[in-house]
Amino acid sequence: MGRLLDISYFLSLFFILIIIILNPSSSATQVYDVKSFGAKPDGLSDSTKAFLNAWAAACASTASSIIFVPKGRYLLHPAVFSGRYCTSARITILINGTLVAPADYRILGKANNWLSFEGVSGVSILGGAFDAKGPALWACKAAGNQHCPSGATTLSFTNSNNIMIKGMLSLNSQMFHIVINGCSNVRLQGVNIIASGNSPNTDGIHVQRSTNIAIIRSTIRTGDDCISIGPGTKNLWMEGIECGPGHGISIGSLAKDLEEEGVQNVTVKNAAFTGTQNGLRIKSWARASTGFVKGVHFEGVTMDNVQSPIVIDQNYCPHNQGCPSQESGVKVSDVTYKGIRGTSATKVAVKFDCSAANPCTSLRLEDVKLTYTNEDQVAQASCSNANGKAYGLVQPNSCL
Ligand SMILES: *[C@@H]1O[C@H](CO)[C@@H](O)[C@H](O)[C@H]1NC(C)=O
Ligand SMILES: *[C@@H]1O[C@H](CO)[C@@H](O)[C@H](O)[C@H]1NC(C)=O
Repeated sequence: MGRLLDISYFLSLFFILIIIILNPSSSATQVYDVKSFGAKPDGLSDSTKAFLNAWAAACASTASSIIFVPKGRYLLHPAVFSGRYCTSARITILINGTLVAPADYRILGKANNWLSFEGVSGVSILGGAFDAKGPALWACKAAGNQHCPSGATTLSFTNSNNIMIKGMLSLNSQMFHIVINGCSNVRLQGVNIIASGNSPNTDGIHVQRSTNIAIIRSTIRTGDDCISIGPGTKNLWMEGIECGPGHGISIGSLAKDLEEEGVQNVTVKNAAFTGTQNGLRIKSWARASTGFVKGVHFEGVTMDNVQSPIVIDQNYCPHNQGCPSQESGVKVSDVTYKGIRGTSATKVAVKFDCSAANPCTSLRLEDVKLTYTNEDQVAQASCSNANGKAYGLVQPNSCL
């Protein structure tokens, strides 16, 4: 009973009420509290079954439903939330607690995903902290141990549509934090991603084979790409992104496969990169592919001590292996860099290293001012197989 007097519990109930009131089909909204399915907020008892049962109940409901996760820590093993038998048109997962991974990193490590949503529609995740306890696996990898599992993505959505992820914190994922694969109409907003700058393969948000995706007002500090964009991505909007530490926003690596879908209509607006390895990067393997990148718009970006602020690298071929032609089949065209300002940690602030077989076309630099931080020297631009034009002030001097 003491809990009922707990102000924060009261606030949570209040929040649910607000959601119910704001929901047009309010009279039909059902609330499923994971605790009433047996979840224990002690961080030690396995709550996986309780979450899956709450999901099954919510998804079998014909009404809109809310799965409520009260405050507390819930231990979860890898779980798949499938939409296959769902009748509920809309499921909101309201998380006021923290989801924690098992202490033994091998339990997540040998699964591909920790929490995976597959074939769902109309699912929102509001709030919540996801603590994947990645450091133990990173340490295993850093020790060069051959037996480390590859690790799990913290949260993945596959073949799903009408998805919203808002106000969640992803902490210390083993591998990628969030993966959006084969989805449409997805909005990530106010997402906060944190992992150490030297954690391996901890990409923040990875999008591929997906259409109409927005990533808004999100902060990403991690050990790999803040946002990575794979083949088959179309209509991706990123706005208000803070990145660093991390490897920047990266389209690619592309041309992994010979038959590959292209990437088109990608926008980054208002982003800040701090101490990152790259800023705005397009990257492809130096080998044959049907892939392409077209219609990319980067605008209003600040760079603070970024190693490679602007880079197109089509000669990616680690250890010179698997790139017999040494020429990328990926065609890069119509890429605009507008209002890009700040400092480069290396002398070459702009690098367009395009494919000899498929030169970049219609690159556009406009109002770009990047300086070299380390010495009192101006930064440089370098171009190979790059065509396009510079407009207005462009510094370093354009090589297009
Ligand atoms: C519960 O979560 C919602 C959404 O993130 C938040 O607005 C609300 O303040 C939280 N309530 C408590 C008691 O933490
Ligand atoms: C490009 O994507 C944006 C969303 O990012 C969308 O609003 C716009 O309609 C798309 N343009 C085309 C030509 O599809």
